[in-house]
Amino acid sequence: MDDRGDDDVAEDSVTITDNRTGRSTTVPIEYGVFPSGGLRDLDKSLFMYDPAFLSTASCASEITDLDGENGILRYRGYPIEQLAEHSNFLEVAYLLIHGELPTKDQYEEWHYHVTWHTYIHENTADFMRGFHHDAHPMGMLVSTVAALSTFYPEAKNIFDPRNREIQIIRLIAKIPTIAAFAYRYTVGQPREYPVNHLSYAGNFLRMMWAVADPDFEPDPVLAKALDVLFILHADHEQNCSTTTMRTVGSAQADPFICHAAACCALYGPLHGGANEAVIRMLHDVGSFDDVPAYIEQVKKGQVKLQGFGHRVYKAYDPRATIIKQTADDVFKVTGTNPLLDIALKLEEVALQDSYFVDRNLYPNVDFYSGLIYEAMGFPMDMFTVLFAIGRTPGWLAHWQELLNDPEQKIYRPRQAYRGVDVREYVPIGDR
Ligand code: CMC
Repeated sequence: MDDRGDDDVAEDSVTITDNRTGRSTTVPIEYGVFPSGGLRDLDKSLFMYDPAFLSTASCASEITDLDGENGILRYRGYPIEQLAEHSNFLEVAYLLIHGELPTKDQYEEWHYHVTWHTYIHENTADFMRGFHHDAHPMGMLVSTVAALSTFYPEAKNIFDPRNREIQIIRLIAKIPTIAAFAYRYTVGQPREYPVNHLSYAGNFLRMMWAVADPDFEPDPVLAKALDVLFILHADHEQNCSTTTMRTVGSAQADPFICHAAACCALYGPLHGGANEAVIRMLHDVGSFDDVPAYIEQVKKGQVKLQGFGHRVYKAYDPRATIIKQTADDVFKVTGTNPLLDIALKLEEVALQDSYFVDRNLYPNVDFYSGLIYEAMGFPMDMFTVLFAIGRTPGWLAHWQELLNDPEQKIYRPRQAYRGVDVREYVPIGDR
């Protein structure tokens, strides 16, 4: 209980008063949050009610700085625009996980290890043959990543930093291979094994598209564009999948299991599934002229404008700006996506409409990414898989940060119980 006079109360603090008892507690504000544990000074049985974490920070993090009011995104302090322009995905992955950009030697070693761990055990690849022919590749990814846990039982040694580093490299290296094998299986084509002379994104494109052509080389513009898309997806602080990674990680499960759980969360249409939902929506809208009618349906709450809105961004998503530029590069190679005109018109109409303006609804990362993926030839089912490849280093960075954070414990939120109080069991024959 705080019994100091008002004059002594620090400016950067919050005072909470329990009006039932008149007791108060004052807690400091640091980094824009105050510890809600201060409430327990007032009453040990009192908790904050915050469904969906709208106003609760579940951890402290040094990885990604997201200022949604001003449309700012920085990884370890570096603006996303600079990383997208000058860096590459593997360097960004190193940055997220290690906290610093690598030196030349560090980068070469990192690149070497990721490149040399791209193969998956043949039994894993064979295991993937057990899926039904039309299995969704996200379902295959989730299950196969979880199965990796059985191939690397030593991954359970999560408090050994060297062991963690090995599993991190394995996951970043093998995810594109699993993703491409899942695709090849669904189209009935033999898998194309990884090669070491291509870039991370280039190797993935080759595993996707090379057929009966040992000399297949991916288009460098498309490989570069995919690399940029991976960078843009690499981390986004406490989104649903990253929080899932931390939640499962807090129970000290191994990283393959945590990663599989994060993939499950990403699969949902409100999260990583939105890029797929955008393309379905653009097909539903059908034509440029039908855009105003579709916007009216959105305003009546009959449908959602997929790829619009964000829990944190209340301004234009900076990733969407970069993606629009990337789309121009891709369309020069692939030819434009006929859905682009509909998307541009939807954006134009929405950004002038008070429904969207008043609710701060802007295009998010998914609004344009699906158009690029589709132009590159990826089927819709693969879109969320591409998101998962990009998000892998971010998930792993958060997993590692969680394990090194002395303030963290097993995640175990409270609930407000609203059910019946107590009643006697009634045997089934008497009900
Ligand atoms: N279309 C129409 N109305 C919307 C939309 C939308 N896409 N998004 C939000 N709204 C409305 C919503 O109906 C609500 O209106 P009202 O105040 O009248 O009830 C208001 O805007 C606030 O929305 P909310 O649902 O309370 O916001 P949220 O923070 O819970 O949801 C969201 C965020 C991303 C789930 C949501 O905006 C949405 O469903 N967007 C479409 C799906 C999508 O694009 N998801 C990808 C997110 S970015 C990639 C990622 O990080 O996963």
